[in-house]
Amino acid sequence: MGLFDNMLKEGESLFLDPLPLDIDFIPPVIEGRESEQQRISTAIKPLFQKRPGKQILITGVPGIGKTVATKYVLSELNKETDDIATLYVNCWKKDTPYKIVLDLCDQVGFKFTHNRDTTDLFKEIAKILNKKSVVIVLDECDKIQDQQLFYTLLEEIYRKTLILITNENNWLAKLDIRVKSRLTPELLEFRAYTAKETNDILKKRVGFAFAPGVVEPEAFDLIAQTTYEAGDMRAGLYLLKEAGELAEYKSEKKITKTHAKEAVKKIQEFQSKSNTGLDDTEQTMLAIIKKNSGKTTKEVYALYTKDGGTQSYSNFHKKLKHLAKGKFIQLEEKNEGPGKATIITYGNMQLSDF
Ligand SMILES: Nc1ncnc2c1ncn2[C@@H]1O[C@H](COP(=O)(O)OP(=O)(O)O)[C@@H](O)[C@H]1O
Ligand SMILES: [Mg+2]
Repeated sequence: MGLFDNMLKEGESLFLDPLPLDIDFIPPVIEGRESEQQRISTAIKPLFQKRPGKQILITGVPGIGKTVATKYVLSELNKETDDIATLYVNCWKKDTPYKIVLDLCDQVGFKFTHNRDTTDLFKEIAKILNKKSVVIVLDECDKIQDQQLFYTLLEEIYRKTLILITNENNWLAKLDIRVKSRLTPELLEFRAYTAKETNDILKKRVGFAFAPGVVEPEAFDLIAQTTYEAGDMRAGLYLLKEAGELAEYKSEKKITKTHAKEAVKKIQEFQSKSNTGLDDTEQTMLAIIKKNSGKTTKEVYALYTKDGGTQSYSNFHKKLKHLAKGKFIQLEEKNEGPGKATIITYGNMQLSDF
């Protein structure tokens, strides 16, 4: 065997197609989310009979398919009928009613937006949408500060299903009673994927992205395991892409465990760099908050002590302030019932910040 036989030649690539490893890629099959998609479509079904649909609130930690499963339902709906409009807004990118209404105008093809204010534009949108039925998805809806938007949509659009998606499992509690009482959504919580589901999903992506046999089984196993532990599918997509690029950079024809390990190291370095300055207790607290974003300080403290944590409540509280200062979390005071409560939301950098 020649010294250079195992080398990629000029113009050769390990990737059949890098697109399936993009975060925004919608795969032809969404595995492990059949019942969730069923629930979403049940909320939409009344629209087929020209009746008002149900509202639905989808919660669950980041990277477990909330967005992709919802978008998949919308694309199936579009194949089925032209009578129901589908609108999707990512409220992370569009976080004010004005930006959102402009986005909606754009999606319905309404062009006369110049010099018009939010209220005015909403009236136009309502006029257009009320001619038919509509499904409106507000993804990352917790990023919307102004609750009037929800109120307007709920009041002014008649035959609709409003789908709200958030990583915060306690988001509903933060809403004004005025909005809450009109919303009364079905609640749909996405659970984390099992190790097997994680494996299956990533295997499918490998099949789309790489030529057969390019990813060595040991490399795949390491990536799948790391992804399962992270509980975030985006980690897996990132690792596959990164390992592939590392192998290509070295002109190698296979993605080996060494490449996978290097990719994993990159993620770990990124995470530990962003977590430097946190002591062990704070790291533990952050891990708990990540899994329980949206809970109150008292609830998180209870989880922390249940986990074996020994800090006093006042120390725990000091450490929360430190985490909030470093923007690892957000603290938000809320008047709930007789006492005050502080809601903690997880706000660490996302894998998509890479
Ligand atoms: N069941 C699944 N089948 C295929 N790909 C999935 C599945 N679940 C998640 N993914 C992929 O993982 C990534 C993260 O999923 P996403 O829907 O963005 O998560 P979330 O909205 O819950 O944060 C996306 O690129 C998505 O395509
Ligand atoms: Mg999402």
